[in-house]
Amino acid sequence: METITTKEQLGWREDNLSEEQIERILSEGLSREQIEYIRNMMIEVKVNIGKHLCPTIADLEDVRLFYLGRNGGKITSQLRELGKLPPEKRSEAGKTINIIKEFLIALFLDEHNKRASNEQKERLLHEKIDVTMPGFIPIVGKKHPITHVLGQIVNIFMSLGFEVEEGPEVEYSHYNFDALNIPHDHPARDMHDTFYISDAIVLRTHTSPVQIRVMREKKPPLRIIAPGRVYRRDADVSHSPMFHQVEGLLVDEKTTFGELKAVLEAFLVAMFGKDTPVRFRPSFFPFTEPSCEVDIGCVICNRKGCGVCKQTGWLEVLGAGMVDPEVFKWVGYDPEKYIGFAFGLGVERLTMLKYGIDNIRLFFENDLRFLRQF
Ligand code: PHE
Repeated sequence: METITTKEQLGWREDNLSEEQIERILSEGLSREQIEYIRNMMIEVKVNIGKHLCPTIADLEDVRLFYLGRNGGKITSQLRELGKLPPEKRSEAGKTINIIKEFLIALFLDEHNKRASNEQKERLLHEKIDVTMPGFIPIVGKKHPITHVLGQIVNIFMSLGFEVEEGPEVEYSHYNFDALNIPHDHPARDMHDTFYISDAIVLRTHTSPVQIRVMREKKPPLRIIAPGRVYRRDADVSHSPMFHQVEGLLVDEKTTFGELKAVLEAFLVAMFGKDTPVRFRPSFFPFTEPSCEVDIGCVICNRKGCGVCKQTGWLEVLGAGMVDPEVFKWVGYDPEKYIGFAFGLGVERLTMLKYGIDNIRLFFENDLRFLRQF
């Protein structure tokens, strides 16, 4: 049988086998028939692993197993069958199959690497981060202005030695009124525009019932504040049916109206600045005697007179007074032994003055354009 060992013998003009592969084939001195077999096998495999048939590494692996798989791979099987051939054919067939196996291993490796680098390229393209793009500014939550100011108020009083107490928003009308010396027929009940749950139960109209609860529980000396929500049937630019108050109560064997003034002045200065003018005006509350209302110089017009202060130059910010002995009797404190003062302030009002806000409803509409400003 003619063996082929030179390119001239082969007579190929161009081929899809590489120069090295052709050299390798020629080096074995195979017959034309065997060489054509190798060549055709390589064409067959190349067609099968062409891009459109095997776009991914997984597709390629399927084809590889078809030819080179340990169990039943086309080439693997042919190698196993060699033993069955007659001895004179065995050597040539063995050389041929081994060359094909060698070429296929190299081919699959090469194709695998191409796909791997393509898949990686594509993934990188996908995952690419354009660092020149403007970033997303994360929306950071903030405290509501009322919560913020409430926190400031609590901090100031805590620094003066007051402790925080709380009471329920749904309250006995007895604690909300009677125990605070506001009897049924008292005109102050009308002023409060109460939400009644029943005859005996109301939404508290102020935080003063916490005074009663604390005094029923504890013995003097007491120095507490009670922040919380209160409710009144009232709604306009400066009134909301729900708003916040902070109650203050100090009870001891000895205290004076002067101390009340000092505490409130210290608070207002801490809140509004050290040159804030503060004024005490006589007033009336059923549960304090004497009672007063506290004004600060108008923060809007600097006491010249404007719409907010109704041309008076002053803004009312607090109610206060010495605890009425009647209240002590209700809670079982001896009015001859104990003396105290109490005060109450509206958080919304204070916040409006501090920031120059002219409509209380803004606090409760949840308009982010408003809330983000704080
Ligand atoms: N509870 C009063 C109000 O809501 C305020 C106040 C509290 C006045 C304590 C005096 C003492 O108007």
